[in-house]
Parts: sequence; C-alpha cells; structure tokens
Amino acid sequence: MTDDPQQLRSVVAQRLGEKKLILVSNREPYVHDYVGGELKCTTPASGLVTALEPVMCACGGTWVAHGSGNADRELVDGENRIIVPPHAGNYCLKRVWLSKAEEEGYYYGFANQTLWPLCHLAHTRPRFDAVHWRTYKAVNWKFAQAVLQEAGSDPALVFVQDYHFALLPKMLKENRPDLLIAHFWHIPWPNREAFAICPWGNELLEGLLGNDLLGFQTQQHCNNFMRTVDGALENIVDYEQFAVLHRGHRTLVRPFPIGVDSEAISRYAQSPEAVAHTDRLKHELGLSGQMVGLGVDRIDYTKGIPERFLAIDRFLERHPEYQKKFTFLQIGPVSRININEYKALNDELYHLMVDINHKHGADRWTPIHMIKGNYPREALVAFFRLADVCIVSSVDDAMNLVAKEFVSARPDGNAALILSRFAGAAEELSEAVLVNPYDIDGFADAIKQALEMPQQEKERRMARMWQAVAENNTYKWATKIITEISRLA
Ligand code: F6P
Repeated sequence: MTDDPQQLRSVVAQRLGEKKLILVSNREPYVHDYVGGELKCTTPASGLVTALEPVMCACGGTWVAHGSGNADRELVDGENRIIVPPHAGNYCLKRVWLSKAEEEGYYYGFANQTLWPLCHLAHTRPRFDAVHWRTYKAVNWKFAQAVLQEAGSDPALVFVQDYHFALLPKMLKENRPDLLIAHFWHIPWPNREAFAICPWGNELLEGLLGNDLLGFQTQQHCNNFMRTVDGALENIVDYEQFAVLHRGHRTLVRPFPIGVDSEAISRYAQSPEAVAHTDRLKHELGLSGQMVGLGVDRIDYTKGIPERFLAIDRFLERHPEYQKKFTFLQIGPVSRININEYKALNDELYHLMVDINHKHGADRWTPIHMIKGNYPREALVAFFRLADVCIVSSVDDAMNLVAKEFVSARPDGNAALILSRFAGAAEELSEAVLVNPYDIDGFADAIKQALEMPQQEKERRMARMWQAVAENNTYKWATKIITEISRLA
C-alpha cells in the first residue's frame, strides 16, 4: 500500500482522473499575521493540519478554510486564493472570511461549546444555544458556496474535515448530486445515549448522510455512529456493509486511523540542524544533566493536563530523590480562549504549577515549566529529542498525533512514551506505558517506570512503535480514503 508522496500522487491521478480535489476545513494550514509590524506566516497547532498538509503538498488541489490571520486578506487574489506553501507553491488555499459574530456563533459557539463537549467524554456540559445553531447553519452554507464556486461545473471530490461541517455534505449533494463527497470526523463519535441530548441531532445526522463516505478514527466510533442513526431517522442501517441508506442515498461508514509524515519527521530529527537545535534548547532551558519529561498539547480540557501535573506531584512526593533531577516541560498554545471552560483551565493549570513548584522546588530548580507558545514543527522535533519521556494523558481523544510525532522523532529509541488508554493512538501504540489519567497513583508509578526503564526495553518498545507509526503514515491514510471513495464514482 502507498506510503510515500510520489505514490500517493500517482494513486490520486489514477483514481481521480479529471476530478478536482477540494479539501474543506475550518483551520487553515498557513496563517498570515502582522506581529509587531512584521508579516509572519505560521502553521497552527492542529493535528488536522499536521496530517493533511503533507497530503495536499503531494496531491495538489484546493484547500478551502477560514482565513483567520490579521494579514490574510492582503495576500489573496480577487478570488481569495493564495498559492502555498509560501516557498514551494504546491496547492491553492482559498480563504473564507467570517465576521466576528459568525466566528462567535459557529466556531466558539456551536462547534466548540456544543459539538466538542458532546463528542468527548470529558464531563464538560455541552451548551445548546439556538443563535449558535443558526450561525453554524449559515456558516456551513457559506463554505458550501465557496466549495461550489471552486468546483464550477467540473467533476470533483470534496474532502470535508471534522465537526465544524456536519451540515455541509447534504448542502453540497442537494446542489451538485454528482460530486463525490468524503468526510473525516477527527474527533470521537459518542454513544447514542450521549448524542440524543442534542436538540438538533437529527439535522446533524441528515447533514452527515449527504456524504458518500464518512470516516472515523476507530471502529468503535463507527459503531457508535451506526447505532446513533439506527432508529433516529428513517434509514436502512446495514451492519453487514457498514452503510446507511437514507432517502435513496447511501453513505459508507469506515474507520481510517490517521497518521503523520513519520519518515519526514524521522529524517529531520537525525539532521545536524535538529541536533544543534536540541543542544541549544538544553542549554537555554538549563536542562543539562536533568531527566526531562515533556507534554505538547493545545491547552484543552480533553488533554488531561491537570491530571498530568497531579501525577508529577504524587511522583515527587513518593520519590523525593528525583528532586533537582527531573524537570517537566509543558508546551502548548493557548486555545479557544474566548470560552469560559478554557479560561478556567488556564487558571487551574497556572495555580497547580505554582503550588507544585512551591511544594517541591529547591534552590533554583522547579519541577514544572509551562511554555505557552505555538512552535514550528522543527522546534517541536528539538523538544521531542530532548525528552526522556513524553506524556500524552488525554481523558478522551479520538487519536492524538503528538504521540505519533514523538515516536517518529525518536528513531534512536532512547526514550519512553506514557500514553492514555483513552487516546485512539493507544490501539496502535500498545508498547507505550499505558495509563488511566484519572488514576493519579497509577499515573505516578508510570512516570517512575518510564524514567527507570532499562535501555534495552526502551529501544525494543520504541522500535515497535516506530514501525507501527511508519506503517500507517498520513499518505497511506489518504490513499485508503481515496481508494475507497473512488470505487463509488
Ligand atoms: O481534534 C480535532 C481538531 O480539529 C484537530 O484536528 C485539531 O488538532 C484541533 O481540533 C484544532 O483545534 P482548533 O482548530 O480549534 O484550534
């Protein structure tokens, strides 16, 4: 099966023929901003972008996304298009503009205060606000118009991403029944009972049943979706084919666990630049001679960061011999900060860090450092390289690509991964030290186990995980989806 960019490009050419490839996501892969009067181009902290950017670089086509940077408008042409990546020019980014009210209702509102908590088992209540819902519908329609404009009258495969666009597939199908539509839902799909509390559930399901192919990260999420539609609408739910027939249209439901460009990450991790960058960081952060723990996450309540800090606290209580010897770096950009739960989480983490550092700190050493930046991929590789242990402790996560990026960045094998059982990645990365992040004692034991793991065992476990990540990289993921959908053409 295809696992490199050239092969993916030829599969796309062969399978799609004359069809245009149009990808739609909320988050754009390149954001242009003025920072202190200077024009900067950044890539956002997003698993979706990490996985899809190499795919679009390989395949070409058009990526339709929200233009969120303060300089974005200045760089597009009359059709709101710009060719990216900036110095390579592999594909076209079409930016869609949203007003503040639209962003409020659609992104901060319905997508991230309703669907995000509804789909994650994080014990945060979803908010059901009719204004948010109306805005979500209107913004889905706005994106539908942008896609239809890009397609023109040509045949096209539209590849929709994530929970921001549950209504888009039906809107597209109603206007252009000949379009091939695939949708990848990057987050979990909850069980039927959890989904049933959404007052607009049936409309969301009808929207998604406009797809020809609907992909989830795991078989469990496919099963949950099938059970949710079964009985909710007038459907024929075919468990043998894993398909739903709704008003004469058939939607296939399939698991496609997503990956990263592991080969490119590994290659860069072994380059002289990455080695020099790691040494520089070690020096700047005063980490020489320290054992280093690392967390890299958007600051989100699904990521289990408070539990991680509590486990470090418990670990140091039980093993004071690690004082001044172990430092934990938590890297991560502030995310969705207009939402109260996210503000509260940032405050909680700050207070936890201050308390834990006060309790265990000695001389100039403190155990937890928070670095709230959004780092370019190369810098993240340098952070991955300096870690003895990386901790991914999500309380619920459909996949988690940080775990896969970390493994890819450590072909040397001299490190350990602590991974939550509640992250989809745990299915493929069973050689990680698996934890229940809610079990603080067990989590603290896992930190000790990872830090004291014999060299040979670390190398054996990392080699197996490295193999698993390399075998299911992002090109293979895209190939599977394109192959499956092209059979329906
Ligand atoms: O996990 C879902 C997801 O869309 C990811 O694909 C991505 O990493 C993250 O959420 C990004 O969130 P946002 O675009 O809201 O910053």
